[in-house]
Amino acid sequence: MSSNLAAFAFLIASVCFILALRGLSSPTSARQSNFIGIAGMVVAVVTTLALPGVLSYGSIAVAVLIGGSIGTFIALRIHMTALPQLVAAFHSLVGLAAVFVAAAAFYAPESYGIGTAGHIHAGSLVEMSIGTAIGAITFTGSIIAFGKLQSLLSGKPLVFPGQHWVNLALGLLLVALVAWLCIGQSPVAFWLIVALSLTLGVLIIVPIGGADMPVVVSMLNSYSGWAAAGIGFTLANPLLIVTGALVGSSGAILSYIMCKGMNRSFLNVILGGFGGEVAGPQGDMGDRVVKQGGAADAAFIMGEASSVLIVPGYGMAVAQAQHALREMASQLKNRNVTVRYAIHPVAGRMPGHMNVLLAEAGVPYEDVLELDEINRDFASTDVTFVIGANDITNPAAKTDKSSPIYGMPVLNVEESGTVLFVKRSLASGYAGVDNPLFYRDNTMMLFADAKKMCEDIIKALESGRH
Ligand code: TAP
Repeated sequence: MSSNLAAFAFLIASVCFILALRGLSSPTSARQSNFIGIAGMVVAVVTTLALPGVLSYGSIAVAVLIGGSIGTFIALRIHMTALPQLVAAFHSLVGLAAVFVAAAAFYAPESYGIGTAGHIHAGSLVEMSIGTAIGAITFTGSIIAFGKLQSLLSGKPLVFPGQHWVNLALGLLLVALVAWLCIGQSPVAFWLIVALSLTLGVLIIVPIGGADMPVVVSMLNSYSGWAAAGIGFTLANPLLIVTGALVGSSGAILSYIMCKGMNRSFLNVILGGFGGEVAGPQGDMGDRVVKQGGAADAAFIMGEASSVLIVPGYGMAVAQAQHALREMASQLKNRNVTVRYAIHPVAGRMPGHMNVLLAEAGVPYEDVLELDEINRDFASTDVTFVIGANDITNPAAKTDKSSPIYGMPVLNVEESGTVLFVKRSLASGYAGVDNPLFYRDNTMMLFADAKKMCEDIIKALESGRH
């Protein structure tokens, strides 16, 4: 394939990726944009394989077969709730690939057209060392994030005195090593950069608590994009530069959106120490009283209401209750109850988590409203049905300056006539803080698994037992 044709094909692939990202901003176009992205990737892979310089199609086929089989196997088995750790695991591989490509380029620069051993172009050395450092940090950082999200490691922030100063000193040492590599082209400097960056990846992520891991994964996603862009410069591959930059910038924007949803600064997340293993009352309500009800009570209250707002959260995802929930909503609509869904930007464990699940269950898009659109409507709503959500409703975020979630925008569920909370106990949510709403007069706790409760409410509505 001529280089002009390849450049044109890469341009088409880049445009496909940009259109795919654009389309993912709305649930109505998301499916189609996935296909556009896949088409772009097919163009990119076929063009790359048609370029001169491919030494063995056989070994590429074997690698694709092994990697593709493992990827397919994992993708088919993975649960939606485990996606953040899957993304973290996959990003670690992108980071490792960046390190391998940089090592290959360092030891065989002729193959990459970046000079000869010991006489590599200065610019390429800078790109190579930055790509290596970001790649190695991404590799170990993603592994730690995976371990915390998968509960293989403690979700508690691991902090020690002077931690930030140690990181700063290591960061400065890294800059010095990059300078050494660029000036002396020493393999020792190269491998010291790798070792130091691997260590930094661990040190940067261990102080960050479990609650912030999704932000960290998105940040590492961004890093892996910049590492890929770095490889693109080393390989003089414009498509890799464009794709890496797209991943890098979209990951950074996503991290920003998550931080905004939690009203935290990016620096506050990175400096760590927030959130950990869940604390608070695990079913023990002390001397406080909660009003408890069952499916029949919920069916009666909602069946008699004229408006119901549903607030889904992480527990709905865990219980896979979305289908039963949609069925329950349909039953209520059949009784002329207005039913809508209120979605908090950080409900669940990843951006768009609730939207994806509700779309999968066939909930009409027009019934699903974001926090800004719906928050004023709680005051004029008869019943709010909170299903597996906790932190995103906690009014302490508005009033309690000492609360770790203070400042996070929350859904004003307590303003509605009655609040029904479906959860299994009085346990706290991801931020590990108690929710005073459970003990309010207009709250009724429905202690059950989210899916089971929806199914029981459907039965109660059908049998007219209410
Ligand atoms: P959480 O505050 O984590 O509360 C979820 C609740 O679901 C828990 O209190 C749990 O109570 C209940 N639950 C778990 N399994 C259940 C089941 N099978 N059936 C019924 N209930 C179940 O979730 P949220 O309100 O969605 O808030 C999200 C949290 O994650 C926020 O703190 C947010 O900052 C954080 N976070 C989110 C993101 C993104 S992007 N979404 C990113 C970073 C951090 P029981 O154990 O009593 O059942």
